[in-house]
Amino acid sequence: MTDDFARAVRDGLSASPKTLPSRFFYDERGSALFEEITELAEYYPTRTEMGILVERAPQIAECTAPGSVLIEFGSGSSRKTETLIAALDGLAAYVPIDVSASALEGACQRLQQRFPNVAMIPIVGDFHQPPALPAHLVDAPRIGFFPGSTIGNFTQDEAQNLLRIMAKTLGPQGRLIIGVDLRKDISRLLPAYDDALGVTAAFNKNMLTRMNRELGANFDLDQFRHRAVWNEADSRIEMWLESLCEQTVRIEGRSITFRSAEGIHTENSHKYSIPQFQALAERAGFGSLNVWSDPQALFSVHELVVRAL
Ligand code: AVJ
Repeated sequence: MTDDFARAVRDGLSASPKTLPSRFFYDERGSALFEEITELAEYYPTRTEMGILVERAPQIAECTAPGSVLIEFGSGSSRKTETLIAALDGLAAYVPIDVSASALEGACQRLQQRFPNVAMIPIVGDFHQPPALPAHLVDAPRIGFFPGSTIGNFTQDEAQNLLRIMAKTLGPQGRLIIGVDLRKDISRLLPAYDDALGVTAAFNKNMLTRMNRELGANFDLDQFRHRAVWNEADSRIEMWLESLCEQTVRIEGRSITFRSAEGIHTENSHKYSIPQFQALAERAGFGSLNVWSDPQALFSVHELVVRAL
């Protein structure tokens, strides 16, 4: 993991513009800060998606055959999943895939207590790798779960590629429940990524702290500021760490120079209209069964089915 991070930093900080992959936000402190973000007044996605899932879980359950396997891509704390598992009668197994072994262990322990009849099959790894299931579950119907609008972190091409991998994992007739944040007025969008308490700023700057700690860099956190900008052409919120002055930073024996106001691009969070996302899913081999939203049309949950592989 540290090697992976070191390589990404080496490549990303020599690129123009400088860039770092958003998956590196989630070390222990970053994950805790993200949990804090989900509770902010300005950050609507988590509670809105949860509301939709609570309302629609019975409908999702209706189409799920007993003996099915639930596969979650990037499960983290599995908090949203609990609602779904509770509604799915006769679920054979829950297969959470996550890079964090500790998160998986905690989640599976908690869920096993509450659902003693569901087999917990945690898989440590990146969700781009199709999971190997035990022989007796190989032919069970599969239902995928990818909440949180994590899909928004990927470009269109990457998202299509990732959805195609999920379609392969789920197999013909497999279903995918996926959360997708919607396009909306920037007066609503920008504060969600630049909150009044500065939690998102701390989350973004944690990337600098992480380079200091893990790679021996000497970033001065006071010489960078958090920026969230709306990129209309690409329909996405971008997060940047902007240098407040001309400066040189040492990292792994190399010098990286910053112009004043030069940024490091740390995250993309793409926003879709419902038809835009359905078209993307279709290009990846999925058909649309259902799509649900909240009364303010802030967030969407799609129920997709694998049509072509
Ligand atoms: C976890 C990727 C869905 O893009 O809204 C929250 C991450 N970044 N605030 C998002 C995030 C800044 C979040 N996702």
